[in-house]
Amino acid sequence: MNNNYLRLGVNIDHVATIRNARGVIHPDPLKAAQIASQSGADGITAHLREDRRHISDEDIARLIDIDIPLNLEMAPTKEMLDIAVKHKPNACCLVPEKRQEVTTEGGLDLDKNFNLIKSCIEKLKENKIRVSLFIDPNENHIDKAKELNADIVEIHTGTFARTFSKNDSFQKEFKKIQSIANYASDIGLEVHAGHGLSYETTEIIAKISVLKELNIGHFIIGEAVFDGLDCVIKRMKAIINNARE
Ligand code: PXP
Repeated sequence: MNNNYLRLGVNIDHVATIRNARGVIHPDPLKAAQIASQSGADGITAHLREDRRHISDEDIARLIDIDIPLNLEMAPTKEMLDIAVKHKPNACCLVPEKRQEVTTEGGLDLDKNFNLIKSCIEKLKENKIRVSLFIDPNENHIDKAKELNADIVEIHTGTFARTFSKNDSFQKEFKKIQSIANYASDIGLEVHAGHGLSYETTEIIAKISVLKELNIGHFIIGEAVFDGLDCVIKRMKAIINNARE
């Protein structure tokens, strides 16, 4: 593959969020994953949370058969490790998880959880699953990720995305991400990035040449509502009108 290629991983969690709001089977995250694949996505990301607020165990079992790589996001717990080992996704991205958080608020604390993460990485790699660590842009975490023998680091872009266009601090955050990404790549880690990215912020982050993959969810699913609403309303109107002909 072209060395300059930047993959797009589409996070489909929020398709499941909408489905679960009604406790029914529509909209199906598997269908979203198939559409993503047909539309040029390079991978699918799904986060199986401890509280199963969006993606379910059954979703993971079904998503494993899609024709593009599955990146399973998960907390470093025994329960999640067993699920990963059972299904063997292409990659697992280890993330910190707090029950009360709305989304993954920050990266892993690799100092505090060194031994726990080490044993998770060993187990996943024994099972031929690539391991990614979701981290804040900080050089110490990169060194630790290397020491832990992770394959990939995914840099948390949430602060950059949140501060974008509000003030100039996003430029400082961008420079930090850029320099940390270069450092990680120089010491042999594959570098991904994600969280909170939109069209505008992706345009900037994608310029970091060492990045190999971006993982984007909330914006893509949210924007798909606007891009698809017109089509769905027209189809529903046609059904109503035809029924009255
Ligand atoms: N990468 C990781 C590790 C995440 O936890 C998330 C959110 O689930 C994303 C990327 C995607 O973030 P967003 O949904 O804000 O695009």
